Amino acid sequence: MALHAKNSMTTHLICRPAPFVIGLSAGILGLASMTANSIEAPTGYDGLTNGYLTQAGYQQALAEFSLIQTIPTGLGPVFNDASCQACHKGPIDGGHSQVRVQRAGYFDGVNFIDPPGGSLIPARAIDPSIQARVPRDANVKTFRTSLSTLGDGYVEAIPDSALIKLANDQPRQSKGLIKGQYVLVDLLEAPGKRAIGKFGWKDQHASLVSFSADAYRNEMGITTPLFPTEATSNGRSVDRFETVGQPNDSNDGVLLAANFMRSTKAPARTPGSLDPRQPGQNPTARQVSITQGERVFNAAGCGICHTPSFVTAPAGTPINGGDYLIPVALGGVTFHPYGDFLLHDIGTGDGIVQNGGQSTRNKMRTMPLWGLSKRRTFLHDGSATTVQSAINQHSGEAVQVIAAFRRLSSQDSQNLMNFLNSL
Ligand code: HEC
Ligand code: HEC
Repeated sequence: MALHAKNSMTTHLICRPAPFVIGLSAGILGLASMTANSIEAPTGYDGLTNGYLTQAGYQQALAEFSLIQTIPTGLGPVFNDASCQACHKGPIDGGHSQVRVQRAGYFDGVNFIDPPGGSLIPARAIDPSIQARVPRDANVKTFRTSLSTLGDGYVEAIPDSALIKLANDQPRQSKGLIKGQYVLVDLLEAPGKRAIGKFGWKDQHASLVSFSADAYRNEMGITTPLFPTEATSNGRSVDRFETVGQPNDSNDGVLLAANFMRSTKAPARTPGSLDPRQPGQNPTARQVSITQGERVFNAAGCGICHTPSFVTAPAGTPINGGDYLIPVALGGVTFHPYGDFLLHDIGTGDGIVQNGGQSTRNKMRTMPLWGLSKRRTFLHDGSATTVQSAINQHSGEAVQVIAAFRRLSSQDSQNLMNFLNSL
């Protein structure tokens, strides 16, 4: 709630070129010269670059993201699927899907314990003899649906300080009930350095290069210098199917896939929603209802976790342990993820610990609600088939917010649903 869309619209007006320079095109002025929170991220499902890569570069990077890997290119020996795009494709390449991956392990009454080979249980293998399975005695089991990566270049560029501030502000906004947790995670591309995790249902990675290297290794079985250790099948070596001691691939594919994700536009609002880049429109009845619905969303407290807006750090800011400078196209941009990228216990936690330590066992990252209208299953395991049922499963830190939600008048409820359906 810290940065509401309205603020960015006001600033938008302020940073308009003064009348005497109006004849100059935006190209000459250079968008990057506008003040930090003045530019709205481009949105759309049109498969066009957000300006980070050229369109030709975007296509080339997408070709890597969509490349169907085979045993000669390094696929396996154990894996979940053969291309990034196989799981990230809705409504366009890079998006979400209902493909679910499986995790399992043990809870000893105090701690979560990984089974041999780790909690991710690969669904497939290049040879039946090394097919991994959920251990019979595992007492923690869960599914995870495939998250969208659209607009993730903006998420990566959120300054860590903004997330720390959010986490510190939440208790005050909620009588101490809501306490988002941020976790510091290792950066694979900057050994010894750490940053706040933003990606994955458990905030297990801070950067798109780290997530990409992890996905090459864990989803497709392709090792790289960034993630050189071969997976196992429930802890059993699969070395006889591999050239031992040698990564399957260079880092090139990992970097291309990361750059593809960085150049995707943010998810778009549904047709008929107000465009924040065009203030002063004459709203239709539907737009009025959506605007009222967003007010209800914030008044009920949904926006404490489902943060409406962020501004990315300025272009040129070094992040990811100094490995990456925020590019002009992604710096100083306002975008609207409706998520705080922090971990919360809302009673839906899946009991798995990844990079955040035992305190994250029963927490999940707030699901960003941008792109919500394009999804058909909800919550980390896809167990909710309607938005209402996903909301009704919130408890824990969200208990008071949900109580407020249940007290809404039918008009307010309708407006809220119209707003959610506009995302
Ligand atoms: C078998 C399906 C599958 C494949 C193949 C796959 N992913 Fe994913 N991806 C997922 C799932 C499931 C998640 C959520 C994982 C979690 O947090 O538990 C995810 C999450 C992500 C995220 C985090 C998005 C966010 O906003 O938090 C990124 C980034 C990502 N994948 C990139 C890739 C890349 C790059 C590739 C190819 C190298 C790839 N994925 C291959 C299923 C897949
Ligand atoms: C305390 C933080 C918190 C509050 C408050 C909160 N949420 Fe959530 N929300 C979450 C988390 C965390 C998830 C992911 C849970 C999971 O997947 O297990 C989530 C998931 C969702 C989803 C599912 C989205 C998807 O695609 O899977 C919807 C819809 C949603 N919230 C709407 C709301 C609404 C509406 C409100 C207010 C009435 C609200 N939330 C209040 C934290 C919160």
